[in-house]
Amino acid sequence: MIHEATRRSELELSEVLNNRFSPRAFSAREVSDQELELVLEAARWAPSSMNEQPWRFVVTRRGGDAHAQLLETLNPSNRIWGDKAPVLILAMVQRTLSRNGQVNHHARHDLGLATAHFTAQATALGMGVHILGGFNAEAARTAFNVPEDLDIVSVLVLGFPGEADQLPENLRERESRRSVRLPLSELVRYGTY
Ligand SMILES: Cc1cc2nc3c(=O)[nH]c(=O)nc-3n(C[C@H](O)[C@H](O)[C@H](O)COP(=O)(O)O)c2cc1C
Repeated sequence: MIHEATRRSELELSEVLNNRFSPRAFSAREVSDQELELVLEAARWAPSSMNEQPWRFVVTRRGGDAHAQLLETLNPSNRIWGDKAPVLILAMVQRTLSRNGQVNHHARHDLGLATAHFTAQATALGMGVHILGGFNAEAARTAFNVPEDLDIVSVLVLGFPGEADQLPENLRERESRRSVRLPLSELVRYGTY
């Protein structure tokens, strides 16, 4: 079912795409082991250049030291709401190709696809994902012993969406306002640029 209050496109996109948004308000509801496995499994089945599957994830759950450490690396403007989410995931890519050690120029592209799969599956299960670039990647590298051949790209904030009134006042109104998009006419050319 498409939630009319938060519908994105006027066109009949699939429910998952029309319902997806990046929440800041998260409910106290835990993400079960099965739900977590399913969203990671969705990421696993993303396409990638030469089927390299360059994505790597460190999963942390609320209550554990690792979750507290990852939270600590977030920019304060993200930490102020990200601390309510039950799952925080550090997303990385293997920088080189396993077959020949050359740079994989598509690694970040492919992590983006895996993240999109992850996000779509989470939305289908009623969860929300907020992807973050606003964090200290080098602090995360140290905290989680991430080897130098991995690039640290993003943090995925995962949980069930909560009520906007739990957010600091400056973020409340923004939570119910869906982001907008450029028109297709600005993004797409037919036949030639
Ligand atoms: C790579 C990436 C980095 C992002 N970093 C942040 C961030 O640091 N803080 C934040 O609040 N949102 C962040 N976002 C979320 C975007 O702002 C959001 O996706 C965009 O405004 C569109 O809103 P929507 O996802 O609700 O459609 C990031 C998204 C992506 C894909």
